[in-house]
Amino acid sequence: MKSLFFVICILVLLHAAGHVESSRRHRDDRRQASSYKLFVFGDTFVDNGNTDKQALTWWTRNWYKPYGVSDANHDNSPTGRFSDGKVQSDFLAMILGHDESPAPENMRRGDDDDDDSFGMNFAAGFSNAKAINTTASEFSAQIGRFRRLLKHGIISRDINQSVALVAFSGYDYTYIPHKDTDRHGYTNFIDDVTESIANGVSDIKELGVTKVLVNMLQPMGCSPRFTRTANNYTECIKSEITDIHNKKIKEKLGSEDSVLLLDLYTTFNQIIHPKSGTGFVHRHLPCCESNEAGGYCGQVDSWNGEELFQVCDKPDKYFYWDEYHPTQAGWKAVMDKLEDSIKEFLDIDS
Ligand SMILES: *[C@@H]1O[C@H](CO)[C@@H](O)[C@H](O)[C@H]1NC(C)=O
Ligand SMILES: *[C@@H]1O[C@H](CO)[C@@H](O)[C@H](O)[C@H]1NC(C)=O
Ligand SMILES: *[C@@H]1O[C@H](CO)[C@@H](O)[C@H](O)[C@H]1NC(C)=O
Repeated sequence: MKSLFFVICILVLLHAAGHVESSRRHRDDRRQASSYKLFVFGDTFVDNGNTDKQALTWWTRNWYKPYGVSDANHDNSPTGRFSDGKVQSDFLAMILGHDESPAPENMRRGDDDDDDSFGMNFAAGFSNAKAINTTASEFSAQIGRFRRLLKHGIISRDINQSVALVAFSGYDYTYIPHKDTDRHGYTNFIDDVTESIANGVSDIKELGVTKVLVNMLQPMGCSPRFTRTANNYTECIKSEITDIHNKKIKEKLGSEDSVLLLDLYTTFNQIIHPKSGTGFVHRHLPCCESNEAGGYCGQVDSWNGEELFQVCDKPDKYFYWDEYHPTQAGWKAVMDKLEDSIKEFLDIDS
């Protein structure tokens, strides 16, 4: 009897030891979050300073107050981000164990001492995904710069553990051609835009990036720029463009193992329309509002310097910062919801 008990004890111990061993092995197999490199492509949702600072306009307001006002890591000053603080690329970087997005590509010029070992951010301003007229900022141009830096070894070619974020928020659709008169042309145009995104993703993978995160479109009809004039910030309006775009993105990229679609449509909606009463006090109203519907956050009268906008006291109570972009708190809420699926996709510990 005693010896049977002894044998059972041994078996239990062996089993436990084996269990410890296999869970340790499992942990070693998983990747270190901080060993990932990150390359960012896209527009104002992820730009961290690639547009040049020029005289204040709608296009350059990201370099002027009150942009950056909540950004404690940067003296509460503007950094070229379209937010009161961090943006989506910063929160992804934090999931990967860093403080903020990799440096903007723009900053690298003329300063070869920069440490780009974490990666690089190519996203710029109001970029289009689809090339219309070759401009410096559209997706293919951003990829072109990435390709060149890789070729010249300025970005190390050792990118076999790397992730790209592709974040286009819909500037292609600012002036959608023939929207009301030509339905066929209109859906074809959305097809071209989503095809450009899919082609870009494929180019990025060919260059050696192993995993790609691709934003689906946020509910564009919830943007304050539309709800202001439609209903004084009380409800989202329908956006057929968003629906068609997201359906096509799913068709083109949804089945690829190396691609994770980030469903900003559902995530924004969950935050703007929460099931319970918790969440942001202000879900439609922007923290920083221009006096005129056609104006912008940060706008000042060029004659007398008078501010032509109002900014709220507590940006963290607002989901939207300006007429289009989430606050830092808004982006945090969005990325908190996506964090688990991103970690699972990248095979890193949560
Ligand atoms: C593209 O360039 C052509 C010729 O330079 C110009 O006529 C057209 O307006 C431009 N389109 C856009 C969307 O900028
Ligand atoms: C990634 O590249 C490094 C250095 O080139 C190499 O040592 C490593 O084995 C590679 N890892 C994989 C998974 O290919
Ligand atoms: C919009 O709503 C605010 C309060 O929510 C109100 O003070 C304002 O008068 C409204 N504006 C218009 C144009 O209805």
